[in-house]
Amino acid sequence: MREAPLLDVSNLRVRFSTRHGRVEAVSDMSFTVDEGETVAIVGESGSGKSVTALSIMGLLDSGRIDEGSIRFRGEDIAAAGPKRMREIRGEEIAMVFQNPMAALDPLYTVGNQVAEAIRIHRDVTAAEARARAVELLKEVGLPDPERRARAYPHELSGGQQQRVVIAIALSCSPSLLIADEPTTALDVTVEAQILKLMRTLQREHGTALLFITHDMGVVAEMADRVVVMYAGQVVEQGTVEQVLGDPRNPYTAALLRSIPSPTISRDTLMPAIRGSVPNLLEMPSGCRFHPRCPQAFDRCGSEAPPLFSLPERRDSRCWSHDEPAAGLSSIQSGATGVS
Ligand SMILES: Nc1ncnc2c1ncn2[C@@H]1O[C@H](COP(=O)(O)OP(=O)(O)O)[C@@H](O)[C@H]1O
Ligand SMILES: [Mg+2]
Repeated sequence: MREAPLLDVSNLRVRFSTRHGRVEAVSDMSFTVDEGETVAIVGESGSGKSVTALSIMGLLDSGRIDEGSIRFRGEDIAAAGPKRMREIRGEEIAMVFQNPMAALDPLYTVGNQVAEAIRIHRDVTAAEARARAVELLKEVGLPDPERRARAYPHELSGGQQQRVVIAIALSCSPSLLIADEPTTALDVTVEAQILKLMRTLQREHGTALLFITHDMGVVAEMADRVVVMYAGQVVEQGTVEQVLGDPRNPYTAALLRSIPSPTISRDTLMPAIRGSVPNLLEMPSGCRFHPRCPQAFDRCGSEAPPLFSLPERRDSRCWSHDEPAAGLSSIQSGATGVS
């Protein structure tokens, strides 16, 4: 029998009240993360990835979890109070965001901020916390950590700042690290270094990693399993080999098409998917992807496909799930916009 997953998100539904009415940012979202595993959530901007992450962290500001559960080691943390969530964030789940500058306090040295994070979790003296902070800064590959510990955030590069944020996240030895597009604000070379660092740390600490990205190239590099999201829903999930090697959803195939190849720079990203993610207030009938789908047929516009369970523990929300969703040439020829 399989062990219970570390994180089990089940039928999660998150709504926001806006001036224009209530919108559903995440609809009936289910996925799991096992101990020590790397799961990627991938999808275009606006598909509900960050709302999912913030729901797990208990950090949704104006949004509400209307349905579903988020079980962490069996405990439904979607129903936990703020005090319990603070404990969980301090001891079990940590998060790294896209913009490191927003996560750091400009008024304190980075050494101080890492040491402070350590003292929140561990009963240690100021000197011990300080020494441990320098060790952590060394572990995340900050050059000359003794000296850099005395620097203020603005004195570091974006990549170095993100290393500091990762050190703070690791200070509580979390069993789950959520990284929400941690390299999107960095240039490609620095991105590669940070991804390598996260892989190394994940392996050495045995931390489970929930890695959020819009980039299938990063999924291929980082993840064991992948959850593809579109317009607030899971549209496909499975192992990286299954989903990237034999996509059963045209949206996944389109995302794969948008991976920059070594010969094509990011600035000339191939137009891969026509149109954009639908406005939450004007969700299309039927399959949410059908207006943009090169393989759509009549039924897709009128009847929403359920998430079909396919053999070998993979799922696809597509009426055509039993045929390979390639049609790469048809997607390309239908392309009018950039993803
Ligand atoms: N505070 C909010 N109020 C209203 N709508 C929101 C709020 N936060 C996010 N949304 C909506 O939820 C949807 C998903 O957002 P998000 O999870 O940030 O997407 P992603 O991270 O995949 O780019 C978007 O349509 C966004 O406009
Ligand atoms: Mg986001």
